[in-house]
Amino acid sequence: MTKYEALKILEELENSPNMIKHALACGFVMRDLCIKLTQGNSTQSEPFDEKDWEIVGLLHDADYELTGKSLDAHTEETTKKLKEIGEKQEVIDAIRGHCDKAPRTSLMAKAIYACDELAGLVVACALVQPDKKLKSVTAESVMRKFKDKSFAAGANRDQITTCDSELGIPLEEFTKIVLTAMQEKGDVLGL
Ligand SMILES: [Fe+2]
Repeated sequence: MTKYEALKILEELENSPNMIKHALACGFVMRDLCIKLTQGNSTQSEPFDEKDWEIVGLLHDADYELTGKSLDAHTEETTKKLKEIGEKQEVIDAIRGHCDKAPRTSLMAKAIYACDELAGLVVACALVQPDKKLKSVTAESVMRKFKDKSFAAGANRDQITTCDSELGIPLEEFTKIVLTAMQEKGDVLGL
């Protein structure tokens, strides 16, 4: 699937502008995470395709608003659409895995699980800056806000720390990767 086709699906499933921004942010982050995890990892048996990783980021929450944010129904509509067009099973599994509908066996599945909530926390960090811009956010300030459980309380910290346990990327480094990926696309994200 191309990025264009993924964006069409987001449109068909009636995503709000904010949800599309979250999708785009996770797509950019996933692409960079794929590149990062590929570097110096020639022994990895899992084939890496950064385009697939970006599609997973773009579509992981594609039916979240449509299904009324019901966790039972979440990812089922997206799965149906992806099966219809014959999307790769590993992409479908990674999307389903982020809300516990499938085991997270691939690095791609583990990556979306860990970065999803951090991407939300980073947006919340930008929105409390005087200029509301990602460029004003530092990795250190994200780490401070991470430890302040009352800040963006909905961002599940335990889920984010699976970057270390599941991907082998320490939290501080993971934060830098996610923040940088989003800052580079600040204009696209309107942040
Ligand atoms: Fe998400």
